[in-house]
Amino acid sequence: MKTKNWPPYQLVEEQLIDRAQSRLDKLERLYHVGQNNIWDGREVLDGLIAKHGPPRLPNDKKESALKILSVLLWGELAAWAISADLAERIDDVEAKMAATSQAHDEARHFYVLRDYLRALGEPVPRLGGLGRRLLLSILDTPSLVHKLIGMQLLTESNALAIFRGLAESGLEPVLTELLPYYEKDEARHVGLGVMYLPRLLSKLNARETAGVIGFQVRSIAILMSAGMTMHQHFRTVGIDPRKMAEYTIKLQNEVTRDMLAEAPIGNGKRRRDAVRGLLNPAQGYGPKILDFIHPPKGIAAMPAWHRTALSTWKRVATIADRALA
Ligand SMILES: [Fe+2]
Ligand SMILES: [Fe+2]
Repeated sequence: MKTKNWPPYQLVEEQLIDRAQSRLDKLERLYHVGQNNIWDGREVLDGLIAKHGPPRLPNDKKESALKILSVLLWGELAAWAISADLAERIDDVEAKMAATSQAHDEARHFYVLRDYLRALGEPVPRLGGLGRRLLLSILDTPSLVHKLIGMQLLTESNALAIFRGLAESGLEPVLTELLPYYEKDEARHVGLGVMYLPRLLSKLNARETAGVIGFQVRSIAILMSAGMTMHQHFRTVGIDPRKMAEYTIKLQNEVTRDMLAEAPIGNGKRRRDAVRGLLNPAQGYGPKILDFIHPPKGIAAMPAWHRTALSTWKRVATIADRALA
């Protein structure tokens, strides 16, 4: 924390002038809505276990399900630390409140999932090295913009797609009824990125914008490679990886659209400055990459070079995933 200029009097003084801006009100609303929608994790989990009995995973799906749950568990812990860090470092009071509310939610997400795993009574497998590397890079980056993009846009949209897929697969009844609670909170968390990132992005210079693009390219490459090592686990529990990727892309496209709609204009700023440097996987090469990784007609129908390239990528990803773990 910067102690020299503390307390930051401008927080109160500037905010009085800015108050009329509805964007700030909406950002602050994330905190109040979060407060109204707080659910008691102990009560919900105990209630579901009383209703369905102690959770048990089907034997043939156990290993894959635990692999996926491990990603979610450590993802929630990282989200907790990252949102607490954002709460401390963001300067605007309204965005600070939204991040604080998120940190409170993520703490609940982590302990409830930990308690659920304890109720399962199965040892939780370790996190793969690629996922670990990605979460660490978001935890460690000193850049607020990288942190917000990494957490709010990339990680949260992937997590939402996994929550949705797991709930739809009907893997285990306690989990199936628990996950919609998570989904509702996570959908709100994306709002901080949507409403706050445009102000930060429109202030970046060309070098910083290039840095933001580089960070996303690296993060997306790690996410795709980590996904490669998980595809079989998703299929085993009944989640279609292509459907999941399509859902993630749809969410990210909506985020970009909402950001443009929220964008502050005027002061010589153009609307698209608000998403400057932000990659939207629904555009450009995104759909081609999706079809390459998840061919619509299945991999067996693809030419030999395509199958070789994919299996090589998967092999390299698996080696890296172990080496980095
Ligand atoms: Fe969460
Ligand atoms: Fe979240």
